[in-house]
Amino acid sequence: MNYEDLMKRAISLADQYKYTAKPNPVVGCIIVKNKTIISEGAHKEFGSHHAEVNAIEEAKKLQGISFVSFEELTLICTLEPCNHLGKTGPCTEAIINSGIKNVIIGAEDPNPLVSGSGIKNLISHGVAVQAGVCAELVQEQNKFFFFKNTNKRPYITIKIASSKDGKSHLADGDRTFITSKESRQDVQELRAIHDAILTGGNTVVNDLPKMNARVNFPLNQPKKILLSNKSNLDLSAEFFKDCNYEILNETGIHKIIEKYSKTDITSILVEAGPKLVNSFLDSGLVDKVIIYESQNNLGPNGVNWFKEDNTVEKLGFKLESSYKIETDTKKIYIKC
Ligand SMILES: NC(=O)c1ccc[n+]([C@@H]2O[C@H](COP(=O)([O-])OP(=O)(O)OC[C@H]3O[C@@H](n4cnc5c(N)ncnc54)[C@H](OP(=O)(O)O)[C@@H]3O)[C@@H](O)[C@H]2O)c1
Repeated sequence: MNYEDLMKRAISLADQYKYTAKPNPVVGCIIVKNKTIISEGAHKEFGSHHAEVNAIEEAKKLQGISFVSFEELTLICTLEPCNHLGKTGPCTEAIINSGIKNVIIGAEDPNPLVSGSGIKNLISHGVAVQAGVCAELVQEQNKFFFFKNTNKRPYITIKIASSKDGKSHLADGDRTFITSKESRQDVQELRAIHDAILTGGNTVVNDLPKMNARVNFPLNQPKKILLSNKSNLDLSAEFFKDCNYEILNETGIHKIIEKYSKTDITSILVEAGPKLVNSFLDSGLVDKVIIYESQNNLGPNGVNWFKEDNTVEKLGFKLESSYKIETDTKKIYIKC
């Protein structure tokens, strides 16, 4: 039987939870009898039950009504079921205990704690497994999660607002918005998809940012990481009010990223001024640069973003896409 359509439905189901399940991957699961859907489940919130367990629990309510035995059913899940005891019990155990004998999987889980062992465990318990159905869609849907497990570090994106003449801010310290309200709203959604936002001490002191994701949908807020050695930070400032922050005295970019590579964090959005942004670019660890460029110049009193002729292309990035947001242009660059 061809399960692609049902797998795509499970992928869509999972997608609804991309802001609440992170930093976990999103996962969708559908249980069918022949091609009739019996139940559906998704991993809805970080730390909560996994998709397979939710779908199995829903199916149990229909046993004796829509089907007799779980052996009649096929479970379709977007990601390989977990095989280890994490925040919840292993999904392979739930599947084996349910009596389901047929499992269709989208992509293998790249997490070294799973990575094929979930499939092996199912097969060794007499479950027929077909893996790799729409695998690329699942990998794209969980891009940061796959990147982290493959490259052993979080995906790093720099976001900057730039004047037309390539400046970050005015040297005399006068605060001014560079980009439009619509671009600034777009940034809120960019924050919402990331696991962490990283900034520097001068930005927090000069700009007094909140640096949370102000969106009108539920989400697991990104953790805020502040790199600063200042001893006189005002902890009553907006940035610190939600207590969802960490201050690091470390200045070595590789060491900082190494620290977060050992955590759940799969993606970091760097929102800082030119000093810290250039330290990140020098580190060679940046995967993407997003520039919101306005039509206005800041002039000679403005501080340049980039060292090399003031363009990001000279630093080993190529333009991937570019489009208008109101009067600004959003340019996305990826590493060559
Ligand atoms: N246009 C934009 O998109 C945008 C975005 C953010 C900020 N800004 C502007 O940028 C100005 C601040 O610029 P800035 O360049 O000083 O930025 P910053 O974002 O404050 O970064 C520099 C600070 O980061 C900390 N840091 C730790 N490790 C570092 C490292 N390896 N390399 C560099 N810094 C490190 C230090 O904090 P401590 O000194 O506290 O130890 C350093 O002073 C702000 O006034 C703001 O207006 C513009």
